[in-house]
Amino acid sequence: MKIIKSLSIGIITLSSFAYSCGGGGTQSTDSGTTTPPAPAATQAKVSLEDKYKDDPIFITGSAKAKEIGCTACHMVERKIVGPSYADVAAKYENTPENVELLTTHVINGNVGNWGEVPMPAHPHLAKEDVEAVVKYVLLLKK
Ligand code: HEC
Repeated sequence: MKIIKSLSIGIITLSSFAYSCGGGGTQSTDSGTTTPPAPAATQAKVSLEDKYKDDPIFITGSAKAKEIGCTACHMVERKIVGPSYADVAAKYENTPENVELLTTHVINGNVGNWGEVPMPAHPHLAKEDVEAVVKYVLLLKK
């Protein structure tokens, strides 16, 4: 009787030890899978094109940008002759005032905001077309 009692205490002690150990094990496995960095890694992989591709402003603007020739000097996420659209979007808040300002810069040409290389004037373009592209550019925030 005495032996059985001490044996059962031993089992209880052992099982509670195993439990706490198992609990700790589960926890450390959780933090071991590094759950927080996972979404960040996914985000980095999603291009701005993927992020905004269903937005009507994106659809209209990206098509217009090709049509009126902005893509010759601008890419979405890489600087070529002009700054990337993503850099422009990071610099300017998406407000009606900035849409107006940047539309004027595109139509009249501009230099000095991004370096020594000037953007030529585009006086032949319709203001609505340029505006559609500028709205799309300012949408492209990361
Ligand atoms: C010949 C090359 C070229 C073409 C074509 C071009 N850009 Fe640019 N763009 C530039 C350069 C260079 C700059 C940087 C100018 C500066 O430093 O102020 C620039 C700057 C910009 C800026 C930022 C202006 C600012 O004040 O910060 C916007 C917005 C822009 N371009 C939009 C457009 C759009 C929309 C089109 C199509 C109509 C277009 N660009 C066509 C070369 C070009």
